[in-house]
Amino acid sequence: MKILVTGSGGREHALIKKLLQNDRVSKIYCAPGNGGTAGEAGCENIPITDIQELADFAGENGIGLALPGSEDMLVSGIADKFLEKKIPVLGPHKAAALLEGSKCFAKEFMQKYSIKTAAYKNFNSIDPAAHYLEGCDYPVVLKADGLAAGKGVLICQDKDEARLALNLLMKEKEFGTAGDSIVIEEFLEGVEASILSFYDGKTILPLLSAKDHKKIGEGETGPNTGGMGVVAPNPHINEAVMNTFRKDILLPTLKGLKMEGLQFPGVIFFGLMINERGVYLLEYNLRMGDPETQAVLSLLDSDLLELIENTLSGNLDTTELTWKVGSCCCVVMASGGYPGPYEKGIPIEGITDCQSDIFIAGAALKDSVLLTSGGRVLNVVANGTNLQSARTACYRDVARIRFRNSVYRRDIGGSF
Ligand code: AMP
Ligand code: GLY
Repeated sequence: MKILVTGSGGREHALIKKLLQNDRVSKIYCAPGNGGTAGEAGCENIPITDIQELADFAGENGIGLALPGSEDMLVSGIADKFLEKKIPVLGPHKAAALLEGSKCFAKEFMQKYSIKTAAYKNFNSIDPAAHYLEGCDYPVVLKADGLAAGKGVLICQDKDEARLALNLLMKEKEFGTAGDSIVIEEFLEGVEASILSFYDGKTILPLLSAKDHKKIGEGETGPNTGGMGVVAPNPHINEAVMNTFRKDILLPTLKGLKMEGLQFPGVIFFGLMINERGVYLLEYNLRMGDPETQAVLSLLDSDLLELIENTLSGNLDTTELTWKVGSCCCVVMASGGYPGPYEKGIPIEGITDCQSDIFIAGAALKDSVLLTSGGRVLNVVANGTNLQSARTACYRDVARIRFRNSVYRRDIGGSF
């Protein structure tokens, strides 16, 4: 089988490495890929980013499975393009991708089907939103409706901050048309969890839970990033929390998808906040998480291609996954300055000295040398019999990797 993966992150590198473990996979194309996917035997990078051209490529090259990685392509309708060419695709059609692509749509869906979430109000013009901010409780959260690369969520401690945030979103259009509508919602305290799951149109099958660390600074300080590190399973999730999640979020989501006719084979990633009042859904993503995927796949014993095939054939109700015992720790090494501006083209050394899996994200291969090319540069991923041993193994290799101005958090999987 030939597979086409789209994207260029550590997530795609990890997916490709796992898929290549299956002997039936003859070739993987990664569009556009990165310096890590370029170096995997059996994988070839192709410089295509237009969704129609990707579908044409798939049709012309006998692709048997398409795996779109990133949300922007899904929201633009990449799955529909592949389906027009009769290429099996893991991912939602354009209508369902709105559950990630429009936060207003997602909140209305959650409310309609009684899915536990923060109290909220949607606004599509600035004056009523400004009026609402005068009377609401603080802190409050403002969210751009559309995609904003994880940066469109603004947590405001008081009225002044909220006024500034509202102007940024709806007047200065910091995130363009993504801020034409906004969600204003209740601030929730608690611990976060990511639950990736597979969905075949009838069944949602959750994978092991994960804990992302979203902020750039240690102790969850500073601006939000795409994710600076993950541990799996999430230490805050036990059987009781999973049962609450199933009852208050998973099952009503399944019912809503059915009632709204939103059937597709793909991934549903639940972004959760857990506190003493229960388990809340912050958001849906309709794709694998990055860096959650790197840690969760590292613990998955089952074959990934078979899991995807069971999803495409509607057999998740009888699919049983097996997991390695223990924990995984994934640390993201980033370019100094990220999530703001940063330098590129810096050589990376020390990878061959590592024992952990190293997944490449923002780095390109030039004359056999890896050079940084993005904010999140690479992921160090290690398993252990428990979280502590996974962390120790992971940080041992983080210390072996060197590039100028590299930054990483030393507290991934730490005490909070
Ligand atoms: P989202 O893209 O909706 O997951 O939001 C990005 C991040 O903002 C989340 O991972 C949380 O850290 C934070 N966040 C979003 N909504 C809330 C909320 N209602 N209360 C507290 N934090 C939130
Ligand atoms: N790590 C969070 C995300 O993939 O959206």
